[in-house]
Amino acid sequence: MYPFAGRALDNGLARTPPMGWNSWNKFACKGLNEQVIRETADTIASNGMKDAGYQYINLDDCWQSSRDAQGNIVPDAEKFPSGIKALADYVHSKGLKIGLYTDVGTQTCAGRPGSLGHEYQDAKQWASWGIDYVKVDWCHTLKGQNGPASYTLMRDAILASGRPIVFSICEWGTSDPWLWAGPVGNLWRATEDIQDCWDCKRSWGGNGVTQILDLMNGLQTYSGPGHWNDPDMLEVGNGGMTTEEDRAHFSMWALFSAPLLVGNDVAHMSDATKSILENKEVIAIDQDPLGIQGHRVKRDNGLEVWSKQLADGGRAVVLLNRSAAAAPITVAWTDIGYPDHLTATVHDLWSGKTASDQRGSYTAQVPSHAAVMIRVMP
Ligand code: GLA
Repeated sequence: MYPFAGRALDNGLARTPPMGWNSWNKFACKGLNEQVIRETADTIASNGMKDAGYQYINLDDCWQSSRDAQGNIVPDAEKFPSGIKALADYVHSKGLKIGLYTDVGTQTCAGRPGSLGHEYQDAKQWASWGIDYVKVDWCHTLKGQNGPASYTLMRDAILASGRPIVFSICEWGTSDPWLWAGPVGNLWRATEDIQDCWDCKRSWGGNGVTQILDLMNGLQTYSGPGHWNDPDMLEVGNGGMTTEEDRAHFSMWALFSAPLLVGNDVAHMSDATKSILENKEVIAIDQDPLGIQGHRVKRDNGLEVWSKQLADGGRAVVLLNRSAAAAPITVAWTDIGYPDHLTATVHDLWSGKTASDQRGSYTAQVPSHAAVMIRVMP
């Protein structure tokens, strides 16, 4: 049972799903450094992404190297010779916000120092640097360490720092965080690490996009303003998927009200990738103020219909083709909570075309491994 139904972490943040960029999917440990962060911030501030809503520039694992004699966390001096405070000032000067990464265990997943036993000290340090967002991982925990207790301690440490900091829980769905994390974090990973592929499952637990869709379906009850299910960061533009697959991946994350944390090299991306990441009509579905996570309403041999209720009474619908051949997919109005006799305008969010007076249903031809995303407006 969900003991906190209807309650969310009351820090006033992430009222719509957080949007920004994270270093991990593209740069991992080896490629992370302050040049990459500055270049990324410069790009996002000037290429239309900031205007489209991307805000947080998040450093993932490997920004930290050790602790000093007082136990203070020390940034990796080779990667960040100017230090984190100077970098935060730089990112803020671009009108953007900055995030860091840590772990509730003794070490991060890449073996850097974790925050166990240093929660209040670290939160105070981050706040003094001007950090706006913290992602907290679940590697190298002690035997029997309790997830809800560990993350609640971290929440309290962050609140005590006095700075508004988005709190991102990353324990990969291990302890069904949707059942307890609503009042603890602003978002929590619902699944293990995303892989840059459409349909694949790694033996150690990584998931392709379609595996994540199946894991997210049914969790819509637990997500909402201030507290979001997180299906992991985007792989759009990282090269493992076709443009159609990347577009379907982005469409589905928007349908889920997922955090939109871009994970590619934005300073050197193709126009095709940029136009996916900057589709304002799709982003508006993600950022809809009602904050309802969409869910699957129909499936038949790899042909699926997903729907999300919007604040204006309309629906966002994704017609998703997971099969190997192009096929027509139909959404009936009765699939998405409308009467059969309803007449609606249908706007295709990728082609930009609008069809008026659609009565009872709408059908589109959908290529293999692709999505048609529409906004249904009664
Ligand atoms: C875990 C997380 C990833 C990333 C890496 C960093 O695998 O789930 O998102 O933060 O650690 O080491």
